[in-house]
Amino acid sequence: MYDKRWTTGIARERYTLMRSFPDGFVWGTATASFQIEGAIHDDGRGESIWDRFAATPGNIRTGETGEPACESYHRYPDDIALMRAMHLNAYRFSTAWPRIIPDGSGAINTAGLDYYDRLVDALLAAHITPFVTLYHWDLPQALQDRGGWANRATIDAFVRYTDVVVSRLGDRVKQWITHNEPWCVSILSHEIGEHAPGLHDRALALHVAHNVLLSHGAAAPLIRQRCPDAQVGIVLNFTPGYPATDSAADDTATRLHNARSNRWFLDPIMGRGYPQEAWDYYGNAAPRIAPGDLEAIAVPLDVLGVNYYTRAVCHDPAGGEGGRVLNQRDAAKVTARDWEIFPQGLSDLLTWLRRDYGLTRLYITENGAAYDDVLAPDGQVHDPARIDYLRQHLAALLGAIEGGIPVEGYFCWSLMDNVEWAFGTSSRFGLAYTDYPTQRRILKDSGAWYGRVARANALTD
Ligand code: FCB
Repeated sequence: MYDKRWTTGIARERYTLMRSFPDGFVWGTATASFQIEGAIHDDGRGESIWDRFAATPGNIRTGETGEPACESYHRYPDDIALMRAMHLNAYRFSTAWPRIIPDGSGAINTAGLDYYDRLVDALLAAHITPFVTLYHWDLPQALQDRGGWANRATIDAFVRYTDVVVSRLGDRVKQWITHNEPWCVSILSHEIGEHAPGLHDRALALHVAHNVLLSHGAAAPLIRQRCPDAQVGIVLNFTPGYPATDSAADDTATRLHNARSNRWFLDPIMGRGYPQEAWDYYGNAAPRIAPGDLEAIAVPLDVLGVNYYTRAVCHDPAGGEGGRVLNQRDAAKVTARDWEIFPQGLSDLLTWLRRDYGLTRLYITENGAAYDDVLAPDGQVHDPARIDYLRQHLAALLGAIEGGIPVEGYFCWSLMDNVEWAFGTSSRFGLAYTDYPTQRRILKDSGAWYGRVARANALTD
């Protein structure tokens, strides 16, 4: 996907010519159930793989669990108040499968559905459009006990869960996302072992990836059946690779990175099957594909959700797999997670998606930055670095839109600081600061800034 022509940047000067986003542009924030809800034992919620994972010391750096998180199960009116304060017109959240079907495939827990019903109604009353992600990683533990995503029966269970949720909310929710970041569900969780269920098995991870994509393909038509005016999409995380040097080895490493991290998920969804170079590289670990699988995955998409945080700089002196290095020239420009700040990567990525895949409807479903925010003596949170990050990425996005790339909305990760998976609450991504002891949400300077942008529908300052 890397193209040398991009290194000069996409018409930077154009940013100054058009400062406004298109009419009707969607401005939102994104969250995920496990990261914010808390109330893990309330109203019949079942155990999720993240509850089990968090219970093992060392899995979450700061030792937290999903309790209390941000207590959004009870405090969602506070969350909506924040959105209103920022003049936002959309909210991307996920439904918790174990809240709705506690053991994954058995009885339906009406109390769990009622929660999302209340949330959706409250959002609509505030003129905020709900974008619902059906799977943002909190698989019911009972399904994991039977093999999790490696078991094809989980695909059927996901389809049934989808049916239950869409049948209940589909009269009011029209924006549906099947999965969030299948790379994290598969590779990060089953090969790298950093996320639940914490396994280290490449072949298993690729098998899981295949099943997750199959479940997307099975759920999408069902969503349309239950909700005829639905807009159906999937959210992928993209980390575009760039070569560290001009060497042929670095070029190969970059291609392999892009094939494994980005195209492995996008290509099958777009009907192109798995990328050959990654398939060859994986050898025996590549998944077994049953007849009809690739067709089943490649269902038509209404929209593609793009999560972008950073790029990968790929280096391979030995001509092997290649590693990811921090770009030395930009080593100072990283967030608190050591992710390089590289807005050009967003422009390049969007150009690639439009040019090489002909995608016609895109959303930025996540983008944002972690910083070590503190509550200042004046009771405020001053986070100029996050404002800078957002300003640069929104400028890149505006340039892409002006250049004809059809992006319809932007969701900042995240509404408020929350349980950042294996990093716990130590990694703060919020536009609002969560004061965990009191559960007060305090709009950061970046939240106020983002609110001004959303209200003006333009990059004003
Ligand atoms: C993404 C996840 C989201 C959050 C951000 C920082 O990979 O989708 O839940 O953790 O990263």
